[in-house]
Amino acid sequence: MRVLSEATGLGVSVQGLTHIYAEHGNPLVVLDQLDLALRPAEHLAVTGRSGAGKSTLLAVLGGLERPQSGSVLVGDVDLARLDGDELAAYRRDLVGFVFQHYGLLGNLTALENIELAMTFTGLRTGPRRRRARELLDAVGLAERADHRPNALSGGEAQRVAIARALANQPRLVLADEPTGNLDDENTAHVLDLLASLPAQLGCTLVVVTHNHVVAARAARRCLLEHGRLVAVP
Ligand SMILES: Nc1ncnc2c1ncn2[C@@H]1O[C@H](COP(=O)(O)OP(=O)(O)OP(=O)(O)O)[C@@H](O)[C@H]1O
Ligand SMILES: [Mg+2]
Repeated sequence: MRVLSEATGLGVSVQGLTHIYAEHGNPLVVLDQLDLALRPAEHLAVTGRSGAGKSTLLAVLGGLERPQSGSVLVGDVDLARLDGDELAAYRRDLVGFVFQHYGLLGNLTALENIELAMTFTGLRTGPRRRRARELLDAVGLAERADHRPNALSGGEAQRVAIARALANQPRLVLADEPTGNLDDENTAHVLDLLASLPAQLGCTLVVVTHNHVVAARAARRCLLEHGRLVAVP
């Protein structure tokens, strides 16, 4: 992971975050005056029943959804103050996303999927390709560079997705059910990789999971319930 080690994790400070979905008539209060403070390079697991708002919380932290009310500071970036372009730059430069269904493009190889994440960074083709290879190597998949996603196992696909999430040296990594589709062995593999990020790269890491083994690996655990986070001992 030497190639990745320049980034420093960002602290997160969320205060009074409320998120209401109103598209379908009845307002649905998903996050209700939620508070959260994370130290740089902290590893938090968030659990909670289906529909509790876990993905919504990650979407706000990751700049996919704008904070509706309350404040969300990531490092010294106040997400509520960013316009659309600034939010896109925030996502590209500071955040790495990992999703349950990997989100790899099916017509690109593993290597190309990783390279694609670096398209808008100003890095030229040669260095981009080199870095993509280093990342694949770091997740133990150098030999799968030319495989398309349908020729990867679920665990391999997720490791490629993690390599892609790390491409731009994110300072906050957000993983939504990253092992939801994996068997126990692949869960262990992906979990080892994710759990190593705070210590090895200094990334701040938030993992949403239903899996207690995954949650147990986090230094800190919270339950999202009634729109707020409650510490889990
Ligand atoms: N765009 C949307 N418009 C309206 N309601 C939404 C929207 N997105 C999510 N919701 C609702 O908000 C609630 C929280 O959704 P969210 O996806 O954050 O839950 P979750 O905790 O991630 O659930 P799961 O564990 O099933 O992934 C759900 O009841 C969902 O139906
Ligand atoms: Mg979800």
